[in-house]
Amino acid sequence: MSAHTSPAASSAAKEAAVTVPALARMAKDGHKIAMLTAYDATLAAAADRAGVDVLLVGDSLGMVVQGRASTLSVSLDELLYHTRCVAAARTRALVVADMPFGTYQAGPEAAYAACAAALKAGAGMVKLEGGAWLAPTVAFLTGRGIPVCGHVGLLPQSVNMLGGYRVQGKTPDAAEALIADGRALAAAGATMLVAECVPRDLGAALTSAAGIPVIGIGAGPACSGQVLVIYDALGVTTGRPARFVRNFMLGHDSIEAALAAFVAAVKDGSFPAAEHCF
Ligand code: KIV
Repeated sequence: MSAHTSPAASSAAKEAAVTVPALARMAKDGHKIAMLTAYDATLAAAADRAGVDVLLVGDSLGMVVQGRASTLSVSLDELLYHTRCVAAARTRALVVADMPFGTYQAGPEAAYAACAAALKAGAGMVKLEGGAWLAPTVAFLTGRGIPVCGHVGLLPQSVNMLGGYRVQGKTPDAAEALIADGRALAAAGATMLVAECVPRDLGAALTSAAGIPVIGIGAGPACSGQVLVIYDALGVTTGRPARFVRNFMLGHDSIEAALAAFVAAVKDGSFPAAEHCF
């Protein structure tokens, strides 16, 4: 084994780990990308075994793990802790760390310190919420070896500006601005985008305009892949689930079977169906 060969890579029997270039190839070849959030080792391992391509350590942990009303209170230390838990369990999936509110908005240098810590914790990519205003930070990070996933559409960290969790990009001007944001992030070096809660036609237009994989959550079936919060995909929700959620436990008798059904439905394009779209 050479200095640049990881122990995992030396195990020829294992399926190849998902890399940033592999995700770009999947999107280019029309192979849908399946992504779920994960916060702990046990569910991360189950999702990885089920064939999930990307495990997102979402700042949604503030809501679904910590029981808070929004994602805003999640600290960098908490995000790093959960990233270590997930990274310890994954064998194939790429781990993406969702950078908490307040860790990257002030500028590139502060963002670099926080994102470097996320990579040291085991992430292979970081996710940042925001549009064209983030392009200088994305260029700074990617130029220094930190792959970035942008996040456009509904931005939960901006809930106080938005006044609630609502579908975005509904007017022609808003749709145009969102596509410009996606293009600006891609031009700055982002290698993937998440598009949250936008009309399905806008999800399709963004996917063809961005030139990088676009993973949708409530953004329609034309996206390069789909992401759900893992508890939503398993039907473990309090209150009424969002329109874009499908409970994959229905018709399955184990968590692993449900997670495999999520992967299969993303890959064959049957999820999201019309009733999950805006
Ligand atoms: O934090 C999260 O779970 C997310 C997904 C909703 C994409 O950002």
